[in-house]
Amino acid sequence: MKKPLIFLTGILLLAGLSSLKKGYKTPLYKDEHAPIKQRVEDLLKRMTLDEKMMQLSQYTFGLNDNPNNIEREKSTLDPRVGSLIYFGNDPILRNEIQKRAIEETRLGIPILFGFDIIHGCKTLFPIPLATGCSFDTALARKACEIAARESYLSGINWTFSPMINIARDPRWGRISEGYGEDPYTTSMFAIASVKGYQGNKNIIDSLHIAATLKHYIAYGLSEGGRDYTYTDVSRQALWETYLPAFKAGVDAGAKTVMSSFNDISGTPATINKYLLTDVLKNDWGFKGFVVSDWDAIAQLMAQGVAKDSMACAQKALMAGTDMDMLDGIYEQNLKELLKEHRVTMQRMDDAVRRILTVKFQLGLFDHPYTPVIPASQRYLQPHARTIASKLAAESMVLLKNKKNILPISSSVKSIAVIGPMVKDSFDLMGAWRGRADVKDVESIYTALQEEFNGKISLHYAKGCDFDSKDKSDFDSAIQAAKISDEVILFLGEKNGWSGENASRSNISLPKVQEDLIKAIKEKTGKPVILVLNNGRPLALANIEPDVNAILEAWQPGTLGASAIAGILSGRINPSGKLDVTFPLTTGQIPVFYDMRQSARPQSGIYQDLGTNDPMYWFGYGLTYTTYHFGKVKLSATSIKKKQQLIATVHVTNTGTRDGEETVLWYISHPEATISRPQKELKHFQKLGIKAGQTVTYKFVINPKAVLAYPNDKGESILEAGDYYLMVGNQKLRFELRN
Ligand code: NOJ
Repeated sequence: MKKPLIFLTGILLLAGLSSLKKGYKTPLYKDEHAPIKQRVEDLLKRMTLDEKMMQLSQYTFGLNDNPNNIEREKSTLDPRVGSLIYFGNDPILRNEIQKRAIEETRLGIPILFGFDIIHGCKTLFPIPLATGCSFDTALARKACEIAARESYLSGINWTFSPMINIARDPRWGRISEGYGEDPYTTSMFAIASVKGYQGNKNIIDSLHIAATLKHYIAYGLSEGGRDYTYTDVSRQALWETYLPAFKAGVDAGAKTVMSSFNDISGTPATINKYLLTDVLKNDWGFKGFVVSDWDAIAQLMAQGVAKDSMACAQKALMAGTDMDMLDGIYEQNLKELLKEHRVTMQRMDDAVRRILTVKFQLGLFDHPYTPVIPASQRYLQPHARTIASKLAAESMVLLKNKKNILPISSSVKSIAVIGPMVKDSFDLMGAWRGRADVKDVESIYTALQEEFNGKISLHYAKGCDFDSKDKSDFDSAIQAAKISDEVILFLGEKNGWSGENASRSNISLPKVQEDLIKAIKEKTGKPVILVLNNGRPLALANIEPDVNAILEAWQPGTLGASAIAGILSGRINPSGKLDVTFPLTTGQIPVFYDMRQSARPQSGIYQDLGTNDPMYWFGYGLTYTTYHFGKVKLSATSIKKKQQLIATVHVTNTGTRDGEETVLWYISHPEATISRPQKELKHFQKLGIKAGQTVTYKFVINPKAVLAYPNDKGESILEAGDYYLMVGNQKLRFELRN
């Protein structure tokens, strides 16, 4: 009986040995210890054309609640799909789909799950436009780290954030998603976000996720602020205004880039080979992948550059768009296009290689499943709440404070609190709410009650709706104001008035809100404090004279209400400064701080405004203390191009409250071969200064990094001549020599 057994064992052993020889051992791409590059190449060699096409495709999974991007829920999912936008936060469900990809497909390639985590997942931070006003990049980075952790534990490995489109037209609703009008500020927040989402070194083995720099590029220039429209942008403007933040994000290690919807001077971003391949991938050495925006490849037909879906796929792939978000056009057409030699295998492989590389870098091959921990440990942890609260406070900007009416004086015993969002916290959340729940967002009314804790009585009236003709509640608002010492009006915009596809032709407060302010002022004469919650700069000229104070509180997220209450009471000293200019009227748009000088600076003024100044410039913001700036010192007044110049300024907190002050350093270059903006922000620093304390701010001017500017080919030009350094109200000349 023993012999056949030995015989069988022998056969099995031999079969085993020969299968090893034939390569039946664990494939190299599954070897956790092999270098990523080799793993990618090994896997690529094994893939069929269909498998490759699937890697280039992204679909959705879960209940899609984005009104602009509705898609049928996929009941039958091809688990070979490259990526899914995951409209959910259940790691178990996500793992079930992932299990199908790992166990039911030939090669077991994991799916990359992405989602729009724009300013927080479950813990909502202020909208990015508000975060920019904090000028606190370290704090913004922590917020992104928390958003990454909450997302990762929800099953999301990739966020479509940061949105770093420079925006100078507040009619455009998506201005709320970025960091304002300035290329330097946006670049600094781009770096902070990428590092926050992705972590320092390796994304693997951590609670980090891949970031996306979007939307590449110049999307904020959409004509008239109408979303998705044409953008007429010169190469000069691309290089000096729109590209720098993307370059900063790429250098910070961003794993992915999303191309934008817009047609850029005749070549839509999705098929813009110059931008996607020549600049991004070849010049900048970007090794990650480019995902299209939602349905943007199919939309090339509407944009008049492709006659059918075959042409769309061909142009997008060959220009450098690696992954097709949602429209299925790659999956449907690439095989045929290859057969007709209209796309190359080499370009397809390059796209697949890039996507696989990111998946390996995320550790998805070795750890495809999301660890499942109770939701109570995933979200809204104490650290997350602390950061959300601090960031909300730092992002708010005190715009007006006549006779120091704020903080509310101890003599005030009663306040009328009026406005449509006082008791409804939904509109404090802002557009793109991640996976946040309104029930987790404290209302303004509750926060005020907690803040004043019975010491001040609150008289509430809704007053009006955000926008309606109904003034029936004006009387109760006036009544509440009459019986109170002061009035706080909470007005502004609904969530849905900014964000994607949410442009406004008039950026004043709606008429009913303006009428409410005026009615209260006229009928009661009580001091009025206006608190604004909105997702864009507003044109406030109509009502500014009627109010004693204005606090721009933006859409501040989960912990925003208590930050508002803290600033009103004086518990928090406001420190935010505007990252975007507030025009006087909608007709004054565009107005931004780094405009070029006009040929006749004293003329060309709107006759009906009498000025070209806006309501509030970029960089403006008040505080409850006072700062004295000492004389700025320069280490030299003339330097050579290879030398450095060091500027320092002592700032003293001369008031009685501790504060945080951001010093903004600008450069101007009045005579250049290509004219320069009137001034450009080149450095900022925010420091805490205790009452009575003096601190020193420093700016190291490295001419190559600070004084050089790009031409329309992106070449850097550094010119000898006179320069000016501007800080506070000081302006210092220095010379750059060859
Ligand atoms: C369209 C938006 O433009 C983009 O920002 C977003 O990331 C995608 N939809 C996915 O939701």
